[in-house]
Amino acid sequence: MSKIIKNGKIVTASDIYNADIIIDEGVIKEIGIDLPLNNHEVIDAMGKYVVPGGIDAHTHLNLDVGIAVAKDNFYTGTVAAACGGTTTIVDHMGFGPKGCNLKHQTAVYHGYADGKAVIDYSFHGVLQHVNEEILNEMEEIINNEGIPSFKAYLTYDYKLSDMEVLNVLIRLKELGGLTTVHPENDAAVNYLRSYYSKNGMLTPIYHALSRPAECEAEAINKMINLAAIAGNAPLYIVHLSCELGLDYIKMASERGQKVYAETCPQYLLLDDERYNESNNEGLKYIMSPPLRKKQDQEKLWKGIRDGFIQVVATDHCPFDFNGDKQLGKDDFTKCPNGAPGIETRVPLLFSEGVSKGRISINKFVEVISTNPAKIFGLYPRKGTIAVGADADLVIIDPDKEVILSKNILHENVDYTPYEGMKLKGYPVMTLVRGKVAAKDNKFVGEIGYGKFIKRCIDKCPL
Ligand code: URP
Ligand code: ZN
Ligand code: ZN
Repeated sequence: MSKIIKNGKIVTASDIYNADIIIDEGVIKEIGIDLPLNNHEVIDAMGKYVVPGGIDAHTHLNLDVGIAVAKDNFYTGTVAAACGGTTTIVDHMGFGPKGCNLKHQTAVYHGYADGKAVIDYSFHGVLQHVNEEILNEMEEIINNEGIPSFKAYLTYDYKLSDMEVLNVLIRLKELGGLTTVHPENDAAVNYLRSYYSKNGMLTPIYHALSRPAECEAEAINKMINLAAIAGNAPLYIVHLSCELGLDYIKMASERGQKVYAETCPQYLLLDDERYNESNNEGLKYIMSPPLRKKQDQEKLWKGIRDGFIQVVATDHCPFDFNGDKQLGKDDFTKCPNGAPGIETRVPLLFSEGVSKGRISINKFVEVISTNPAKIFGLYPRKGTIAVGADADLVIIDPDKEVILSKNILHENVDYTPYEGMKLKGYPVMTLVRGKVAAKDNKFVGEIGYGKFIKRCIDKCPL
């Protein structure tokens, strides 16, 4: 049935205005003032903002890290996303069996998501080795499978060599794709981890100390220079956590290099004092890169305001505190890396960003929706409110006060890093292609409604 959203304040990355929206067959049919009700189902948005659905460009659903499996799958994770105002995710596929090709993991992930996801989705390719076969296969994955972005890891088991990274940057530039990178200097991490281990320094704070900002920034700088050598290949830095890394990104952008950066709410709002919480609660924050200093947080907010950081994603990778995370209770190196956040991203950015005056509401829309849509090839179908676009919409009540707690969230994990945080402003309705998926913090959508969206980056409009 067609719908009309009445009396809302529409916000895009560039505008803010009062108007009604008519939705039919999943898309926005008309936007205008005082549109007639006709036979449309009416949604009253008086006193509320209507914003484009959130796009989370960095999640890890169904992720198997060997010692544990992430607690959210494509059903539970996307239910949580919908309740938190996210209508599309781009999930980072995990590693497959050693030596597998790109198609292998693509098939596995379609199997995970198909018939389960409640919101729309896509995947980033994962690179676990690079050779002629993989470089050739990229063309098919980009052009036929609609997956034009790939992640290279510079640490962990399947880290790529500089030569592999260069080949990827060159090839993806040629094919109109995008290289995304997890930047941490593997040698530095391993040196520091073994130093702390040998000296019995094994509590959660040593996780942070073994992955210092220099370790991340060095890898960012290296990637920027390799991208330049690859003929100014476009580069996307995932989960930026520190000021030093941001400085390198700024320098490259000011020189005209195409470097995009993503940060996450945990790096904007939490700091490394969390690792010293009593009862080993510091394990909750073991993620890579680790939480940094308060000063880094302020610089990251400024980086968003200044446009050097274009995206806020989550890196949602949930492991239970009672169970999975306890693997690290006597030794931080044994703790699975990652934390939940798929449901709290939009509310946190609204409350801590817009309500607290750190960013404008247009910037909020830009970083949670429009920029990820543009960078990853979903725009203008997604990421904005315009006639012809998918009716992926979120209604936010700017006055709604919520105390975040594991008990009110839908993430399938036994804690939230934001327990007890008081928020001002919260999503009260989420529509995915015109269908209400969440209302007043309840999931009201349908299992399997989410569609795989083929993406095409080629020329990013950013
Ligand atoms: O600790 C993290 N971030 N885990 C998820 C995998 C990754 O590196 O993005
Ligand atoms: Zn990563
Ligand atoms: Zn990640």
